Amino acid sequence: MIVEERYDLGKLVTFIPNRRIPIHNWFYFKEGFSRDFVSMILNKFKIDRGKWVLDPFCGVGTTLLTCKEYGVNSIGIDVSPLMVFISNVKVKEYDLKKLKEDAQELFSHRIKKTDIENSEVSSFTRRFFPPRVLKEILFFREKIQEAVSEENRGFFTLGLMDSAIKCSYIYKDGGLLKIVERPLPPLRKFYRRRIKRMLRDLENTELQECFAEAITGDARRMEKIEDESFDLIVTSPPYLNKIEYTKVYRVEYELFMPNVRFGQIRSYLGIDIKKMEKGDKYGNLPPVARAYFIDMEKAISEMYRVLKPGGQLVLVVAGGVFPTGVVESDYITARIIGEYEFEVDRIVVVNRRVATRDRVIKIGEARESIIIATKKG
Ligand SMILES: C[S@@+](CC[C@H](N)C(=O)[O-])C[C@H]1O[C@@H](n2cnc3c(N)ncnc32)[C@H](O)[C@@H]1O
Repeated sequence: MIVEERYDLGKLVTFIPNRRIPIHNWFYFKEGFSRDFVSMILNKFKIDRGKWVLDPFCGVGTTLLTCKEYGVNSIGIDVSPLMVFISNVKVKEYDLKKLKEDAQELFSHRIKKTDIENSEVSSFTRRFFPPRVLKEILFFREKIQEAVSEENRGFFTLGLMDSAIKCSYIYKDGGLLKIVERPLPPLRKFYRRRIKRMLRDLENTELQECFAEAITGDARRMEKIEDESFDLIVTSPPYLNKIEYTKVYRVEYELFMPNVRFGQIRSYLGIDIKKMEKGDKYGNLPPVARAYFIDMEKAISEMYRVLKPGGQLVLVVAGGVFPTGVVESDYITARIIGEYEFEVDRIVVVNRRVATRDRVIKIGEARESIIIATKKG
C-alpha cells in the first residue's frame, strides 16, 4: 500500500470551495467536502453517464449534486432527516416557470403577524430571534404550505431556513449554539433576495437528467440497497471524536422539521459506548475510538456488499485526538478495509494538524486522509 502526501488537495476535502458554487452553497455545512473533490474522483475513475455512485454518509448531498452534473446516477444515505431534506431539494429537477409563479404568489401577500406566544416554538428557539423576525418566519412557513405548489415547497423552505439563520442571533461555535446580538437585516427582503438568487442558480447550472436521491437510513445497515449495485462509493463518515454537531442544527429542526423528534438525532458512529461488544480487537484504544471502529467495520462490510466487483471505494477520514494521544484513523480504517476482499491502493494524506493536550502540550499530529481501495474480483 502506498502512502502519499498531497497537501495541495487539503482544501478539496473541506466545504470551503462550495461556498462559491451555485446550488452547492444553498446550505453551509462545515462538515462537508467539496464538489471539486467529487469531480476529481469521478474523472480519476472514469465514472460517466449511466454509472451508479453511492454516498452512505451523504450530508448535504455534495456527491449527489456533482454526479448530476455528469449524468451519473447516485444514491445518498444519511441518518439525519435534515441532511436528507437538503440533499433532495438540491438535486430535484424543477419546472422553473412554475417556481417563478410560486415565488410571485408567495411574496404577493402582506405579512400578517403570527402570535408567537401561542405557537409551538420553544423558549430555546425563541431566544435566537427578535420577535419581529420570528413572526415573519412563521408567517412565511405557513404561506409556503398555502400558496406554493406541493412539489416546490422544499425549495422555498430551504431558502427560508437559510434566511432565518442569517437573520438570527445564532452563532455556531463548534458544537454549541451561542447568542450574538447584532443588527439584523429585515427577513422578508433577505428571503426574497435569496429566492431570486436560488432561481438564478438553477437557470445558470447545467444538470443532467439522471437518478439522484437521498434516503434516511443507517450506513451500518443498508437494507434498501441491493448487493453489487454501485460502481463507486465516495464518502466521508463522521470524524472520530468530533463534537456532537447535530446539536447546532436544533433551531432548523424545531422550526422546519417539527415532526422529527430532535432528541433522537445524533451523529452516529461510535456513539453507543454502552452497547459496545466486549473483547473487541481495539482494546488498547479509548472507548470512544473502539466504539467508532466497531461501527466503522459494520459500515465497511455493507459498503463491500453493495459495491460491484472491480468498483472503487474512496473514504475521507481524520485522526482522533485524545488526552492519551492521537488515534490514526487512516491506518486503522485501511486495515479494516483490507480485511475484506479489497485491494487498498493508497492512503493520500491531505492535511496534518498538530494535536495538543491542555492546548499547549504537543501529543502528536492528526492526519486527514483519503483512502482509495478497489473491490477484488
Ligand atoms: C462528514 S459528514 C458528510 C458530509 C458530506 N460529505 C457532504 O459533503 O455534505 C457525515 C454525515 O454522516 C451522517 N451520519 C452519521 N452517522 C451515520 C450513519 N450511521 N449512517 C448514515 N449517516 C450517518 C451525519 O448525519 C453527517 O451528515
